[in-house]
Amino acid sequence: MDKIVIRGGKKLKGEVVISGSKNSTLPILFASLLTDESVTITNVPSLADIDTTIEFLNFIGKKTLKKGNVVKTYSSCRYKHVAPYDLVRKMRASVLIMGPLLARLKKVDVSLPGGCTIGARPIDIHLDVFKKLGAEISVEGGYVKISAEKGLKGTAINFKFPSVGATENALLCSVLAKGKTTIINAAEEPEIEDLANVLNKMGAKVVVSGTKKITIEGVDKLHGFIHEVIPDRIEAATYMIAAAITKGEVTLKKVVPKHLKAVSDKLRKCGMSIKETKDTITAKWVKTLKPQNIKTEVYPGFPTDVQAQWMALMCLVKGKSKITENIFENRFMHVAELQRFGADIVTDGKTVNVNGIEKLSGAPVMVSDLRAGAALVLAGLATEGNTVVSRIYHLDRGYDMLEKKLKKIGANIKRAHS
Ligand code: EPZ
Repeated sequence: MDKIVIRGGKKLKGEVVISGSKNSTLPILFASLLTDESVTITNVPSLADIDTTIEFLNFIGKKTLKKGNVVKTYSSCRYKHVAPYDLVRKMRASVLIMGPLLARLKKVDVSLPGGCTIGARPIDIHLDVFKKLGAEISVEGGYVKISAEKGLKGTAINFKFPSVGATENALLCSVLAKGKTTIINAAEEPEIEDLANVLNKMGAKVVVSGTKKITIEGVDKLHGFIHEVIPDRIEAATYMIAAAITKGEVTLKKVVPKHLKAVSDKLRKCGMSIKETKDTITAKWVKTLKPQNIKTEVYPGFPTDVQAQWMALMCLVKGKSKITENIFENRFMHVAELQRFGADIVTDGKTVNVNGIEKLSGAPVMVSDLRAGAALVLAGLATEGNTVVSRIYHLDRGYDMLEKKLKKIGANIKRAHS
């Protein structure tokens, strides 16, 4: 399996073009099932999860092709209503097949996705949405079987937690339900807004209020669309932290600064210079950084997907900091690997206490999940000596051309095929 080899200690300097958002592209790809007309999606990143989703759509019966950063889907034949384990297990976001197929076929059988390294990842909030809209649900042989013979009927839905995926599934089925659906305590991440914009381009009637309330007026039919995916705010945050941890200066191009407010504010409090234009951010190390505590929250709070990368930075900022993970129950898999670099970290339940030190030393480390992998690469960039990162297939799920982009701004990094 491929590995990434890093010789750390170089200050990063230069420009990085941020790719399209993985977490926006995925629900938009599933939205293409809601119409038989063709769709064109641009600014699509080249990632394993995107390829998995395209394979999934073709399996279901939606002809889908990716050329460069453009995905086109074509008129579809009769969709299959069963999503098998060997596809679902590859990617959690496969649960987003439920909403569109339930809306179009009035039934869908999806293999239970199973947990992953960052948590059990239950789907109870998703299933509650379908029940409230009139579907019946049973679990048989490891499959969730959902059916709504009489079709879906709009209703009021109050989320116990603003789940991103459950909000997306709710949008992906209520747009074709009869009548009005109101979602209270909905997620309001930028990826939700991007999906709502796509659905409205298709002829849906979705209003995102900005106060965690979304209303949807069901329609009978949805049309094709052309859409450019928003930039990946998590990729962007990762490169901002790369500038901080290597004491460099990195300009991000094709970003939406307001999507990164929580991260930019924290980096400024640390002592980084963060300058923004309409679609760029320049993160520059200008003085010795001070540690900053973070608590992960739903958007617009500090993103859980940047928690691991932040921890890597705090390991090299002298002084004490606290990192609290409020979203997932097991998202500290990177702690043990960072300790292999010599990091001084103590875990205490859902909080990690970091004592930042002057230097870390390179080490062979192993990636457990996508963002933990990003944290290990960041630590490797900032340590003296060699770092070898294995199991980088996790990274290929969510970072488009990672080594190429880092090499372009001065990192001594290469992919070793083994
Ligand atoms: C999305 O996952 C993202 N994935 C995750 O990014 C991200 O970390 C997460 O949102 C939070 O922002 C995609 O968009 C493809 P949730 P999702 O439902 O939808 C609990 C990455 O690195 N929950 O908001 O699965 C759940 O267990 C990935 O790109 C329930 O209890 O996140 C978790 O503790 C990792 N029941 C919390 O809510 C449910 O039915 C947040 O989950 C659903 C969720």
